[in-house]
Amino acid sequence: MVDTGNDIARAAALLRAGELVAIPTETVYGLAGNAFDEEAVLKIFRVKNRPTFNPVIVHTDTLDKVYSFVRHMPRALLTLAEIYWPGPLTLLLPRQEIIPDLVTAGKARVAVRIPRHPMALSLLSQLDFPLAAPSANPFGYISPTTAAHVADQLGESIPYILDGGPTEVGLESTIVGLGSDGQIEMYRLGGISPEEIEAYTGPVRIRNHAGDDPEAAGMLQSHYAPRTPLVRWEGGEIPAAYRHLRLGVLAFREAPDDIDPAQVQVLSPKGSTGEAASRLFAALRYLDALRLDLILAEPAPDKGLGRAINDRLIRAEADRKPRNTPV
Ligand code: TXA
Ligand code: MG
Repeated sequence: MVDTGNDIARAAALLRAGELVAIPTETVYGLAGNAFDEEAVLKIFRVKNRPTFNPVIVHTDTLDKVYSFVRHMPRALLTLAEIYWPGPLTLLLPRQEIIPDLVTAGKARVAVRIPRHPMALSLLSQLDFPLAAPSANPFGYISPTTAAHVADQLGESIPYILDGGPTEVGLESTIVGLGSDGQIEMYRLGGISPEEIEAYTGPVRIRNHAGDDPEAAGMLQSHYAPRTPLVRWEGGEIPAAYRHLRLGVLAFREAPDDIDPAQVQVLSPKGSTGEAASRLFAALRYLDALRLDLILAEPAPDKGLGRAINDRLIRAEADRKPRNTPV
């Protein structure tokens, strides 16, 4: 069985030895390994069962360290780094050779972020290499927001989970880079809303669909998905077509009154998209564990973190049809 605890020195020693450790960040838990060590990075792909065409994010704790493995920092992105690092912002930056091909899936840019969880920062400050870390879940499934989520799924395959409590933001980082015309582009909606970025940069181009551009490889159409089929539903009454099914409901603000409360998760009674984001993945895991026929998921308001929440619901729904339905 996997060990879980708050021993940062132990985590550092395992990572120096080329092992993997699950680490807390403010967004979701990451499955971390030495980003300069191709063997360690390969282990990450194996444990997650992740296809190697899907690159991973590199985490470090200071801008100086970032400069040691990227070629340069465009002015507009530096502005964002100065405002949002440490925090849930990932920048795509031209990489130096020291970053193995496997980390970037052969692309010219490496995804970089300075997380703001104190345990992650303390760990990173003790290492003389950055950490490659995708979310610590099997490929395609919901990202983990607690150490227990990690243990449930990857407990057999890793030696240690650094437990930093439930994550604060609950959604993955927002991924930003420059387009070929120099305009700021967003490749994944995440823990920093488009409005927050635009307050400093002017309009950004959102390119978060796989079809748009292979650079946005993160944006696979079906992703972040529970095993139970999920469909989006506008709230209110349960549609007649679904009434014969064993239903779970992911409600934004208020539970419908015609369903067993044990099968409902309300994300934010006060209507805050930030609170809803922090609860989203745990709520989906809870409903998934009930092994129901179908989860009905009510979208969040399309503002603040609501857009990122809705993006995750669309991907959770993709290509999946409810069982036993006439439709
Ligand atoms: O909040 C987060 O970003 C979390 C924590 C652990 O930091 N990490 C995370 O990693 O969500 P992952 O691997 O689950 O998602 C990273 C996304 C992927 O969709 C990947 O395709 C994209 O970032 N990505 C990574 N490197 C890239 C690159 N060089 N070019 C384009 N996309 C990249
Ligand atoms: Mg992931």
